[in-house]
Amino acid sequence: MRLPDEPKFSGSQIQSRINELATTLNHDLEKMNPLFLITLKGAIHFGSDLLRKITISHELDFIQAKSYEDTQSTGTIGILKEPTTPLDGRVPVLLEDIVDTGLTAHSLEDWCRQQGAKDFLCCTLLNKPANRKIEFEPNYVGYEVGKNEFVVGYGMDYNEEYRSLPEIYVLETSSPD
Ligand code: IMP
Ligand code: MG
Repeated sequence: MRLPDEPKFSGSQIQSRINELATTLNHDLEKMNPLFLITLKGAIHFGSDLLRKITISHELDFIQAKSYEDTQSTGTIGILKEPTTPLDGRVPVLLEDIVDTGLTAHSLEDWCRQQGAKDFLCCTLLNKPANRKIEFEPNYVGYEVGKNEFVVGYGMDYNEEYRSLPEIYVLETSSPD
């Protein structure tokens, strides 16, 4: 796999889309007081840039999920790190880097509701709607990407590589020498 010369989304494109998303959240979710954001590891760049544009009262917590390879077909995920804030009666807004098969976000929604959350929202920078294995519709989406586009950069990795790139690239399959 190799990086192409041109990014799919430049740093400035990402930032301007994040500004738009923040404006929408500030408007739509103003009444939540405080807005309750929970973020996953991969969304650290996205969450950090988005949060700097959130002007309404908000709380932030972290969640860590792990999908089990051997049971992937059932979409089972485990919660490795629970948010410290009790979810009972709250409306968590999950920040995701990318919703792909939908299994992670769907399972996290189930888990949050089991903990007593009265609703659940998802804000994702990228969305691959053509790749779903389970029905899941994020409420707020930065950009859509194609089913066969494997993206890296801006927090997203390929085997832990490329996470720190400021832009987003679609990895290309290396041509044989
Ligand atoms: P899911 O398939 O919707 O459960 O997505 C689970 C996770 O897979 C995402 O949070 C990403 O961390 C990772 N992922 C899915 N597609 C991509 C991609 O194109 N690039 C990098 N990571 C991805
Ligand atoms: Mg992720």
